[in-house]
Amino acid sequence: MQTVHSVPAVKLNTASAAQGSSELLVIPVFEQDDLGDLDGLDGATGGEVARARNSGEFRGKLYELFFTPAGQDGWKVRRVVLVGAGPRKEFTTERLRRIATSAGIAARQRRIGSVSLLHRPDERIEAALAAQALTEGIVLANYNGGSYKTGDEPRGWIDAAEIVMPAGAQTLERAVERGRVLGECSNLARELANEPSNTLTPRVFAERAAALATVPGVTVEILDEKRIEQLGMGLLLGVARGSVEPPRVIVIKYEPKNAPKNPVLGLVGKGITFDTGGISIKPAENMDRMKDDMAGGAAVLGATIAAARLDAPVRIVTVIPATENMPSGTAIKPGDVLRGASGKTVEVLNTDAEGRLILADGVWYAQQLGATHLVDVATLTGACIVALGKSTNGLFANDDAWRETVLRASDRAGDRSWPMPTYADYFEQLKSEIADFSNTGGRPAGAITAALFIKEFVDGRPWAHLDIAGTAWADEAKPYQPKGATGAAVRTLAELALDVDRWRDLR
Ligand code: BES
Ligand code: MN
Ligand code: ZN
Repeated sequence: MQTVHSVPAVKLNTASAAQGSSELLVIPVFEQDDLGDLDGLDGATGGEVARARNSGEFRGKLYELFFTPAGQDGWKVRRVVLVGAGPRKEFTTERLRRIATSAGIAARQRRIGSVSLLHRPDERIEAALAAQALTEGIVLANYNGGSYKTGDEPRGWIDAAEIVMPAGAQTLERAVERGRVLGECSNLARELANEPSNTLTPRVFAERAAALATVPGVTVEILDEKRIEQLGMGLLLGVARGSVEPPRVIVIKYEPKNAPKNPVLGLVGKGITFDTGGISIKPAENMDRMKDDMAGGAAVLGATIAAARLDAPVRIVTVIPATENMPSGTAIKPGDVLRGASGKTVEVLNTDAEGRLILADGVWYAQQLGATHLVDVATLTGACIVALGKSTNGLFANDDAWRETVLRASDRAGDRSWPMPTYADYFEQLKSEIADFSNTGGRPAGAITAALFIKEFVDGRPWAHLDIAGTAWADEAKPYQPKGATGAAVRTLAELALDVDRWRDLR
């Protein structure tokens, strides 16, 4: 496997864009932008910037690119790229991050190894958030989906990046650090989700998680099939029964020094390393995609590592139930009844609704380990893609304040989420003749009934569920996003942990 991602050295430059030491200066340019704050740019480019703008060659349309040599009139930077930033009134931190990523990807295609990113001051965005977004964006650009091609050319990497901000402030250093870690941990999650299922089995996933989570304050415990059995996790074991690969539960605890005993953030991620559907088998077309059915697990892992590396002031317990979902002579069959660790019984009417089964045991265990506030993350339902498409996570919760808290973290992170209803009426769709309830509620409101299934295993405490089925994987390349795993929800969960002080605002 070739290197999948690499973290550039990122530093702040508060002196001068023109005198930066990078090969390329990235300049975001709005539509109808007079570039009034950019003294000397025209001279440095021999009039090329003015020419391109006057002729309409470059108009500032979102992600449009215009490369030109600089270096005249005493500029040390040899090249600049104008990146379209779209209409100024639509400008957001999320756009700024994407602008940085699209410029970074374009630079790498040209084998440019060092870039400076210029922040154009804008009253819509705080300087610290801008520094964080630019850093995150450039780190996210330094990522390739894994490749097993023999004789593939090595890809260019950005080794060094500079964030050019007009005025220096200590708080910006912290913002850059935050951006660097969040970008890197998103890339870690993407790397795992892109990995084929034969190289990332549940056992390998557990080993990789343990190797990655070597951060002060973090401990990892891997539960094997015997321990899982002792704990009575019959829902996870039921799903695992069809596979020759044994299941694992990855348990990560982050215990920062001096953190209060409460609250404890419980993160639970779906870790299906491959979802065939089981006996209720999926059609062949696009089934390969189901190697990313552990993207929720990768997201909670990445977020926990990021939170620990950034010294988040809150305890975290992270639980990732991991297994394959396979058809075989030992697999569970439609109509089988399973009993989970909580004691509740489930009639499995469709073996392809496996995510909610393993999450139920995972959520139970996170509560056993003392979680006071829960978030589970899963590529859970095709129905969520029907409802919200490929850009937005479904957000479900049993508590208004907690839903709002997670939503705000998601907004800050630039991961889009949207609240979905959890009315009790929907639960009637899950009724079973012979067990406490069944694991499917049919086609109507499929994302909601899946969420309500998981909710049954939460005893009272605040719980939220993010369905990332649509967002975890990009089917098409965008200027700011290659095809493949996206790292969805990593930044949301890390922001949630970092800003524990804001949880109280809403209670
Ligand atoms: N992993 C899938 C959900 C999924 C589908 C994620 C497409 C990403 C893209 C999940 O395990 C699943 O199969 N869900 C079923 C549930 C149904 C059987 C109730 C679905 O959505 O069809
Ligand atoms: Mn499934
Ligand atoms: Zn699945």
